[in-house]
Amino acid sequence: MPTERPVQEFAPAKINLSLHVTGRRSDGYHLLDSLVVFADVGDHLQVTTASETRVSVTGPRADGVPDDARNLVWKAADHFGQPADITLDKYLPAAAGIGGGSSDAAAVLRALAQATGRSIPPGTDRLGADLPVCIAPQAARLQGVGELITPLPPLPAIHAVLVNPGVEVATPKVFAALRSADNPPMFATLPQWPDAATLAQWLRGTRNDLEPPSVILAPVIGDVLTRLRRQPECLLARMSGSGATCFALTTTRARAEAIAARIAVPGWWVQPVTLT
Ligand code: C5P
Repeated sequence: MPTERPVQEFAPAKINLSLHVTGRRSDGYHLLDSLVVFADVGDHLQVTTASETRVSVTGPRADGVPDDARNLVWKAADHFGQPADITLDKYLPAAAGIGGGSSDAAAVLRALAQATGRSIPPGTDRLGADLPVCIAPQAARLQGVGELITPLPPLPAIHAVLVNPGVEVATPKVFAALRSADNPPMFATLPQWPDAATLAQWLRGTRNDLEPPSVILAPVIGDVLTRLRRQPECLLARMSGSGATCFALTTTRARAEAIAARIAVPGWWVQPVTLT
């Protein structure tokens, strides 16, 4: 029997510390090799089983977020086969390369599994390539088109600043603007990193192959990266996903907050975070 008690879920932002595009399938989807982590900022959801699905969107980033069947949270309830009353308290910018919609949908699937005692039906990748990794949000290597997930041992505490300059970049356009889809993968085996500095050093040998095309489509992303790279506390700055959100890694929360305070620009979303 499904419980009608509301279930609360947190939908953390997903960050691609690296994102190698290593090939293209015959259906047009790209093969990826990516190191994915999750932030301590995200959206908050309340999910209650119901006789029909209803979505209400609240919170500081609610503007423009659909509250109907176009929203991935609605599709997630359909996928689960359980109508639900969903309140989505939105903090993350949309179409931002940090998996907001996918993480929200994954949170609905977790909440419905909890409320009904049933397991999440397979095939969640049909809801989006980023969805499977968001179901159990923890550091992972992501391969295939997003469906092959290898969880990683816990990473050292990594502090970072997330910066979104307020432009939405359409993922299909970024993939279409890639110069080459055939790029080398990450190293076959990933090492263990004792601290953030070692991880940042290792990441310098990796890439986000979507960064150059996104910078061409939205040059402000290049400005964000230049500003982040100039900060003395910044170990590494890169774009996440297909953008436009960028991150700068640093060693302490205080340093992340110092960068955030210095870089703030009206209209930009700037957020100090801890990544796990
Ligand atoms: O699956 P998702 O909705 O995130 O993907 C958006 C678009 O990004 C896809 O329609 C496709 O054009 C592109 N994409 C891709 N290869 C991937 C993931 C996404 O080409 N692995």
